[in-house]
Amino acid sequence: MENSQVQLVQKSIPPLNRFVTALDINNLVAQYGTPLYLVDEDTLHAKARELHRAYSKFRGPVKVAYSIKANFTPAIIRAFMKDGLTFDLTSLGELYFVKQCKADPENIIYTSVTEEPDEYLEVLRNGVRRIVVSSHKGMMNLAMAAGKLGVRPMTMIRVNPEVGVKAEVRASYKNGKFGVPFNGGTIDSATKMVKHMMESDLLKFEGFHFHLGSQITDFSCYTHALDKMDAFMTKMKKEHPNFHVNTFDIGGGTPVFYNDPVPTPAEMAKNHVDRLDQLAENHGTFTLMIESGRFLVAESSILVSRIVNTKEYNEHKIVIVDAGYHILLDAALLKQEYPQEIIPVIDSNNRTTSLAAPATVKNTHLAGRLCDTYDVFPVSRASDLNGADVGKYVSFYNVGAYSVVFNMPFHCQTKPPIVMKESDGKFRLVRKGTTYQQLYTEEGGDLA
Ligand SMILES: Cc1ncc(COP(=O)(O)O)c(C=O)c1O
Repeated sequence: MENSQVQLVQKSIPPLNRFVTALDINNLVAQYGTPLYLVDEDTLHAKARELHRAYSKFRGPVKVAYSIKANFTPAIIRAFMKDGLTFDLTSLGELYFVKQCKADPENIIYTSVTEEPDEYLEVLRNGVRRIVVSSHKGMMNLAMAAGKLGVRPMTMIRVNPEVGVKAEVRASYKNGKFGVPFNGGTIDSATKMVKHMMESDLLKFEGFHFHLGSQITDFSCYTHALDKMDAFMTKMKKEHPNFHVNTFDIGGGTPVFYNDPVPTPAEMAKNHVDRLDQLAENHGTFTLMIESGRFLVAESSILVSRIVNTKEYNEHKIVIVDAGYHILLDAALLKQEYPQEIIPVIDSNNRTTSLAAPATVKNTHLAGRLCDTYDVFPVSRASDLNGADVGKYVSFYNVGAYSVVFNMPFHCQTKPPIVMKESDGKFRLVRKGTTYQQLYTEEGGDLA
């Protein structure tokens, strides 16, 4: 019985996205060194299609928005422009990036946490017209900016439905920083903000937005949130005869495989679509917006590191790589178990060289290069660290989301280069690595 249970679990572990061969890795490392991020363009397009297809049964139009907070590498933004995705932005820096990539402002949804008057002026000046407000003051700041520029942005309200979310990253907790509750706040309530917008000449009420969290595998929180939205929309319709929702955005949260098998987007959509159809039937049809950062980019990327040292105590082997949480922060922050695999060294005659005999120790621990207790990489169930020895490489899979964006210079570490495997199969450098000299200058070394 125990054995068959183990088999069941093992069966459902999905294959890793090995879009590069061991030889590719050896060649790329010879050119660019380690650590090195690799990105697969085809995976980005495939994920965009998969997410959109998952919601195709919804009775109204569906839009997928890429949350660029997950990975703002310009080459990735440009790849998603080919898929016609909307971009979910949250700062003027992100706006600068998508504008530089020449994304159409029509394809931007802007959801700020700070919501400052000058920020909204800048956003509107750049042609963005779909904005999610998250506070009463934010709404008034947007109205002021709209009045100054003589434009009328499509304005959505970020609601905090205050539902329990069973996930590591939760965004819908009571009295939290994101959005406004349906009622409750003196002025910061969706009820009061809808009323204001219904009477506003400066803002056009467009609809609602919620975001419950990230890496959500238990979908009951969406069901509860949609039930609450239904009741709230019924109430709003009674209070405002002209009330109509044009866009309804259910935020991000689509999960990715790291350690435990996760539901697919199609399985996730199956949970919501009937409920969303019901909402459309009860209140009139709307455009459904699905936001995603993690799902769209995670599996597109591998981080290649090199084993630089090992040591053995009793039954334990510590394998030290030249990566660390400064380039894979969630390994420390969320104890993310990225799947890892040993890549052999291949010599110039295409022969796999075994640099040292694999040690026969039981427990292999993968440690980073930083002098910090937390710089130890949790090992995924899908990892295989057999034969880990100095000189070989360790590939970390599914690292495309929330990794590059958190690169930091702890211990005066530089940023690794990023190479993209483009759809024609060619490898292209899309971010140069940084040097110690650049870091020194950035830190003010030249100002002495
Ligand atoms: C408002 C909003 N939308 C979407 C996302 C993306 O979430 P995920 O990467 O889990 O899809 C986030 C992540 O923090 C978010 O804050």
